[in-house]
Amino acid sequence: METIDAVAVLIDPNPPRSDFVMPWDSPDENDPVVGLADARRQLGDTFAVESGGVTYLFTFSEVGLRSFYAVEERVASKGLADYRMLVRKMPDELFAERRTFAHDLFGAEEVQGYLDNLDWAIDAEIEELGDTGSFDVFDFSRRVGHRLGLGCWMGREAPIADLIPEFEILDGAEAFVHPERSKGATKDDERAALGRIEHVVRALLARTDRQPSFLDDIARRWDDVADPAPGIAGDVVLLHIATMTNLFAALAWSLAQVLLHPTDASLEHCAFEAVRLGQRSIMLREVLRPFTFSDGRHEYRVERGVQLATMLPLTNTEQLGFAYEPARWSDRSLHRDVAVTTFGHGPHRCPAQRFSVSAIVRTVARLSSAYVMTPDFDEVVPMPSQIGGVARSARPCVVSYRRMTPHS
Ligand code: HEM
Repeated sequence: METIDAVAVLIDPNPPRSDFVMPWDSPDENDPVVGLADARRQLGDTFAVESGGVTYLFTFSEVGLRSFYAVEERVASKGLADYRMLVRKMPDELFAERRTFAHDLFGAEEVQGYLDNLDWAIDAEIEELGDTGSFDVFDFSRRVGHRLGLGCWMGREAPIADLIPEFEILDGAEAFVHPERSKGATKDDERAALGRIEHVVRALLARTDRQPSFLDDIARRWDDVADPAPGIAGDVVLLHIATMTNLFAALAWSLAQVLLHPTDASLEHCAFEAVRLGQRSIMLREVLRPFTFSDGRHEYRVERGVQLATMLPLTNTEQLGFAYEPARWSDRSLHRDVAVTTFGHGPHRCPAQRFSVSAIVRTVARLSSAYVMTPDFDEVVPMPSQIGGVARSARPCVVSYRRMTPHS
């Protein structure tokens, strides 16, 4: 019996094909960076992968990447591709009716308010650190990030310590940090956590002694609804999950690299360089209507349902290597180079870049002026199974610290 060749039907001309299996379709942990780099070495810069009944068209050439980043949402959707990844881990109803989006958060005025919250979050963490001790860089960055994010989206009166475990249960990053675990996972724990967050939102909104915060802006978007708490809680959850995806790990990479490689470069350039090296992200766009995709060598007719894809760690280290050299970011043209991606390019580039870089710079600067810090590790090793976001660390990255005296 003849079998239908899905790639040949969906992509014309037929690109070379890899037998790589996407990690969420495989029960075993495998390293997607190694697998996709091997496929590229054998097949070239454009190739197809068929996995779990889905056809992926990977592209890595400069023209291919340009076409990838330029494609419009109505032709090939990032939103739908992200949804398909996150919904493996998170309750579907969370995505059903959202009224507040990350783009609503990051005007110039708002970012200033958030930075005040950042100082408040760092003050609290520094107080908890005390005079001497040790911390794991990735754990510490998560605590600062939670406090900063929840302080911004819910106000400083929010019971942040109680909320952190709920958000850790909901964390969408599990879908791409441990994709092999997401298959068949139930969402009962996530639904229960969502319910508890809803309860906190209800209690916060009922308080009369609360300072105005972004929670009120979110609440205004729901004021035509009899019981607005579920809608408000859903908006807060998705905003904070977007924050958890990259910012916590990017802060950790930045702090770790600054401690491992002291430099005169600006902390802003240190943040971009740390994100370049830490990027572990696949980028996906789901084709919604047939269109022509050019990689510079071929024009492919791509049908609906194909996922266009690229994988940042391959290109980010190809041209610039693995060495940490933050001064390279003084060359502004690097920010426009599609083969190097920190916060994205084109219509979907990150709306939170300025906020995130400011948060990283401020946290690293405050810690460095308060403490003498000594890393008890000599490199950051990415979690091998991860296929999205900035890398989580495969090993502990412990730092010993001692508060500076005015004379040290
Ligand atoms: C250092 C921290 C961060 C890094 C490295 C980062 C990286 C990125 C990248 C590479 C993209 C483009 C993805 C693509 O083209 O498929 C992106 C988009 C996006 N980021 Fe970030 N991000 C960070 C922080 C944040 C934070 C804190 C938030 C939200 C609160 C956020 C929300 C978003 C959203 C909503 C998009 C999609 C924009 C759109 O589709 O128009 N990011 N980010």
